[in-house]
Amino acid sequence: MSPIDALLQIMTLEEKLGQLNMATGDHAVTGPGLADDLTEGVRAGRIGSILNLWGAEKIAALQKIAVKESRLGIPLLVGFDVLHGQRTIFPIPLGEAAAFDSSLWERTARAAAVEAAQDGIALTFAPMLDIARDPRWGRIAESAGEDPYVASRFAEAKVQGFQAASLADAGSVAATAKHFCAYGAAFAGLDYGPVDMSERLLHEVYLPPFAAAIGAGCAAIMPSYNELCGVPMTIHAPLLQGFLRERHGFDGVIVSDYRAIPELLEHGVAADLAEAAALALVAGVDIDMVGKAYLESLPVALARGLVTIEAIDAAVRRVLRLKDRLGLFEDPGRRGSVRTEAVAEVEARKALAREAARRSIVLLTNDNVIPLASDLRRIALVGPLADAPAEMRGPWYAAGDPAGPIGIREGLAAALPGCEIACARGVGISDGDTSGIAAALEACAGADLVVLALGEAAAMSGEAACRADPGLPGRQEDLARAVLDLGKPVVALISSGRPLTIPLIVERASAVVATWFLGAEAGHAIAEVLTGRFAPVGRLPVTWPRHVGQVPIFYAARPSGRPADSDNQYSSKYLDMPTEPQFWFGHGLSYTRFTLSSPRAGATVIRPGESIPVMVDVTNAGPRAGEETVFLFARDVVASVARPVRELVGFSRIALSPGETGTVTFSLDAASLCCLGPDLEPRLEPGDFVLFVGQSADPARLLAIPLRAIAG
Ligand code: BGC
Repeated sequence: MSPIDALLQIMTLEEKLGQLNMATGDHAVTGPGLADDLTEGVRAGRIGSILNLWGAEKIAALQKIAVKESRLGIPLLVGFDVLHGQRTIFPIPLGEAAAFDSSLWERTARAAAVEAAQDGIALTFAPMLDIARDPRWGRIAESAGEDPYVASRFAEAKVQGFQAASLADAGSVAATAKHFCAYGAAFAGLDYGPVDMSERLLHEVYLPPFAAAIGAGCAAIMPSYNELCGVPMTIHAPLLQGFLRERHGFDGVIVSDYRAIPELLEHGVAADLAEAAALALVAGVDIDMVGKAYLESLPVALARGLVTIEAIDAAVRRVLRLKDRLGLFEDPGRRGSVRTEAVAEVEARKALAREAARRSIVLLTNDNVIPLASDLRRIALVGPLADAPAEMRGPWYAAGDPAGPIGIREGLAAALPGCEIACARGVGISDGDTSGIAAALEACAGADLVVLALGEAAAMSGEAACRADPGLPGRQEDLARAVLDLGKPVVALISSGRPLTIPLIVERASAVVATWFLGAEAGHAIAEVLTGRFAPVGRLPVTWPRHVGQVPIFYAARPSGRPADSDNQYSSKYLDMPTEPQFWFGHGLSYTRFTLSSPRAGATVIRPGESIPVMVDVTNAGPRAGEETVFLFARDVVASVARPVRELVGFSRIALSPGETGTVTFSLDAASLCCLGPDLEPRLEPGDFVLFVGQSADPARLLAIPLRAIAG
């Protein structure tokens, strides 16, 4: 008998349910409800895991109670949301996704895991893998954007980074792929709202990142709050059992979202807590986060015959197995044991935060005003984000110190010692007070150039932070208009957790830069890009709309029988604005100019199981060194089911000196050309495909390569 089975044999029902009960600490508030009396609960064996608590000493003290004072001595599992760094804060995931760099994604997760583990944490509720195509939804900030291929690569990189070679390592934390699934498709972008979508869309777009996470060995999965076609994900047996466990062989832990089990009563699918608990357990949820429904109501459900003790045992076994894989039985204190670290390691993480931040910045437009001229003597730095270091953390800043991040003002001042920087806020981020605009204009008076630092507060994206109008909040547009009217060169920096609808700024500013929330090194990274010490490389992982009325907007739409045509009244278009986005998925400028030529494939046909090389030459035709990201899209021209106009099947980067030409080579698997048949099983349909290579999803700038799929 395995040690875990032996343990199960001597556990009381209450001790078993204790292992399925996750209580909350009070180091972070991530939902409603009061923090529990952890000490008593742990001692009594009623709490098997804890969230929202960090700090080596505190966790060690509780761990000691669990191990030494509870009857069975089972160690605790401590979890925390480490979305983009624990103490060293990296860019928000949407920003980091813009780097299109799997190695970077993995390295920042690794660094975050090391710090989280030092703080005693063994489980993180990340990566967040929801496809997000609606910028009204605040949690787009936590996502890798709109595309399932990108989110799948992000999933693999993050899981590898968090979990490293072995979960038992003192510097590893178990990853939780969340939120399973379709959470980002809530009607009207409203968080926690219902979702209704076709099985096809679900399987083509929303599920693949979770399959990728499982493939990478992800230890845990969290069902989302939303209901899907009437069934809350917390009790969605066909997806939790059928898709995750049976189809993809997921044998890790499923942890509910915060109070999601009692909330089944609000959903109207359970009459009381016992029913709610039974439905969740039977569907496959092992841990009840903060709901206390398992602890208090599974005994009732058991008595009513709604659940079996075998189902409870199976869940307990999975939880104990995770604790075992994390090395907690062997040495409950291995995480949190590093008290002091070599300065070099701390510095290395800071350098990584700078690298991640600079690579996440996306240059949206540039009228040759940046990099800034070296002879600038006076700059006005104006706007509510100009000197707002704490905001740079963005949402979900874990244990990040509010005083930690480098703000824009500090970064620019350090990078431009010979330049006078006149700073003025002008207006607040979201209030209605315009009385500071006059002083801001005064600050601009003697300036050679204005840097306009606009955008959102960190708390305006993330959970429960939806915006019906994702434009510039408050009176920032008034400030922007007044500054732009001065006729000086204006560089607009947009700090935000989502693409903002800013047509005025795009039209009138000399340069627009998406700076998301870049974390600890934000100001330095922005300064590096503005001064040209680093040439921007970021590309949009999400389509940037002109207006909220275009939402949801994404590049991989299915074709219409009547595509937009300005000469044809009866075509798919708006009367009041273009159908094209403000910026396409993949858009992002550099300080040089790249041209693509000679697109080609290693074969003209492809069979199931094969993979072929696809190449394109890239020339740096501009004056400076730079890096280009090249995207590979595919289109199945005629299929049994209409295919999207383009689907991403690869991305790659190349660094080139001025005048240099290099070749980007993709390896294209036949599997990535598969579509889902009527049975939703993948199949390669023989016939014509077109591959496209390009610098973004903008159809006007893609180079086509014909390819034919033939039966094997
Ligand atoms: C969020 C999750 C998070 C959990 C624990 C919930 O409200 O939806 O993403 O992991 O809280 O903090």
